[in-house]
Amino acid sequence: MPVLTDPWTLGGRTLQNRLVLAPLAGIGNWFVRLQAKRFGAGLVTSEMVSSFGLAHGNERTVKEFLRIHPDEHPVSIQLFGHDAAVMREAAALTAAAGADLIDLNMGCPVRKVSKTGAGAALLDDPAKAVAIAKAAGEGSNLPVTVKLRPGNKPGDSSGVELAHRLVEDAGVAGITFHPRHASQQHAGTPDYALARELTEALPVPVILSGGLSDEARTLAAFDQSQATAVMLARGSLGNPWRFARLLGRYHGEPSAGEVATELETIIEAAEDHLGRDRAGRYLRKFYPWYADTLGLTRREREALVTAPTTAHARAALAALSGREIAVAA
Ligand SMILES: Cc1cc2nc3c(=O)[nH]c(=O)nc-3n(C[C@H](O)[C@H](O)[C@H](O)COP(=O)(O)O)c2cc1C
Repeated sequence: MPVLTDPWTLGGRTLQNRLVLAPLAGIGNWFVRLQAKRFGAGLVTSEMVSSFGLAHGNERTVKEFLRIHPDEHPVSIQLFGHDAAVMREAAALTAAAGADLIDLNMGCPVRKVSKTGAGAALLDDPAKAVAIAKAAGEGSNLPVTVKLRPGNKPGDSSGVELAHRLVEDAGVAGITFHPRHASQQHAGTPDYALARELTEALPVPVILSGGLSDEARTLAAFDQSQATAVMLARGSLGNPWRFARLLGRYHGEPSAGEVATELETIIEAAEDHLGRDRAGRYLRKFYPWYADTLGLTRREREALVTAPTTAHARAALAALSGREIAVAA
């Protein structure tokens, strides 16, 4: 029985352990991925990137979404789209930017994505899904994985059938399986028994996603699904220590000082990436996650989560130094 610290192979590449950072739209940029890597993730995945945005040379898409830090490898860039020719071009650009793998989004239930025929809509269009996966491999010369769900609605098994076709007909290197139907979005109990069936049936690695909100659940799901690897998503937000704990590299809870220093690192990176003003707005969704991990009082929490600028967030963190924690200047 493999354990999370065991290496494994995906598309001919050896990954050092079985913990993967999930694709998280609006979140999984280079510095969030780098953080997961620093805390031990064996593979990190980007937020979904529009193949159309890349292929049409949208400057912000190319500059911001394909920014890869030299220390975050191995990194998989997740692309979405509904057109094979566009995907081929986007995949070539992604490879040129330095990605190690390409992941394709065939599970996103968000209407903005699925109404174009991308994301979970591809579960019901297997011929197009196979063509897109082939094109991504041809355009990039990289291993391609696909993240999908069992189907669009309870009772559907189109995603399971598609997983087989993607392996057989498009030669994909692995499948990430989120065993909740698209109509469930991100709620409800994932079907780990179904994930186990898929893992046993497919000749390629299966990465499990869904419901991995803490260490105990992650270990139980890894065991129940017998998946090759597991993908932390919401559970890792503001709490990269989960990676380190699951790998036996960290024990117990981080001190408030460690959490504050970590958030300071994220603030600095966001300013570097987006400039100070945009970073101030962008980070507002990050603060509640760190406030939870910090275990703040109501007043301390309020100061952090409503910080309108990065200067206010730094001041909120500095105010915690009264509690004798080491906050970076
Ligand atoms: C805010 C947010 C953004 C997400 N963005 C993506 C995405 O860009 N691509 C994707 O394939 N899945 C995305 N997902 C799904 C996650 O990768 C993951 O499959 C899902 O959250 C289930 O895992 P969890 O229950 O452990 O959080 C997103 C989920 C959330 C909550």
